[in-house]
Amino acid sequence: MKIGILTSGGDCPGLNAVIRGAVLKGIKIHGQEFVGFRDGWRGVVEGDIMDLPRQSVRGISKQGGTILGTSRTNPFEGNGGPDVIKAHLERLGIDAIIAIGGEGTLAAAKRLTDAGLKIVGVPKTVDNDLDATDYTFGFDTAVQIATEAIDRLRTTGESHHRCMIAEVMGRHVGWIALHAGMASGAHAILIPEQPISIEQITDWVGEAHERGRAPLVVVAEGFVTADMEAPHSERGMDTFGRPRLGGIADQLVPAIEERTGIETRATILGHIQRGGVPSAFDRVLATRLGMAAIDSVVEGMWGTMVSLTGTEIDHVPFDKALGNLKTVPQHRYDEAAILFG
Ligand code: F6P
Repeated sequence: MKIGILTSGGDCPGLNAVIRGAVLKGIKIHGQEFVGFRDGWRGVVEGDIMDLPRQSVRGISKQGGTILGTSRTNPFEGNGGPDVIKAHLERLGIDAIIAIGGEGTLAAAKRLTDAGLKIVGVPKTVDNDLDATDYTFGFDTAVQIATEAIDRLRTTGESHHRCMIAEVMGRHVGWIALHAGMASGAHAILIPEQPISIEQITDWVGEAHERGRAPLVVVAEGFVTADMEAPHSERGMDTFGRPRLGGIADQLVPAIEERTGIETRATILGHIQRGGVPSAFDRVLATRLGMAAIDSVVEGMWGTMVSLTGTEIDHVPFDKALGNLKTVPQHRYDEAAILFG
């Protein structure tokens, strides 16, 4: 059996460990053959592949990024679609696809499976916002990177008696902000799920300052205050039609300085959070998911993705994972907020 692997959407530490886990198990246990599609669905739509023999995955689980390349190509746009893809797969002798990606990738995989293609999915996002899996690989690494950065902001903030704001990733959900904020002892954590007022934010900042601390605010990029005008509205759309995020931290600076008189600085961590070596946790999770994807292929579980339930690997239909984002529940925010101010 010949299997094609693709990585699609934003990259994420751990992608290479998934590829290695799948290729090694597939070759060693089932005698399967592997190819990689270059740059996500683009490689599928254009039939652009590279061989993935055993030696091609040697030592790659600790490498960041993806050896296959990635893109945000939608396989239904342009010259794509199920018929074109089926013709390529037939010509290249590829029997099944393992698609590693987030919500968009899995939604496309579902549509293609409905059209008769043999696809299994592996969930991926640093944001940890995919439903039907307890954790996504990449998240642990992103939290670790953000925590280290915030720890550094704290010492310079303390030296200058400043308020420091760290903006982390999280377009729709605040998992990275919540975890990195708790780990670094932030005085306020601001996430998209909780439209906190600027008054409440400045109260937390003021309280920390009065106790002689350098106030530390961790904000997710998708956060919108309850009472400021839509802060992202002037930033326009990116090339994928998404609101251009990033910069809420800069917008909070004058709001905090004017209300509290505390000198304030903002740092946007951005793509640093998605780069570099994956944590040990992410390498192990990604490797296990890659190996489990081979089981899905062998069992012919098309239209399903592998997932993590507790500490065990599971297989769930795409439907279960799509549609609802896994947001930060109220009780998790309330728990963290006990420590604010
Ligand atoms: O979905 C992961 C994510 O990192 C988001 O948190 C962020 O908003 C987005 O990707 C950034 O995408 P891009 O790399 O295309 O700028």
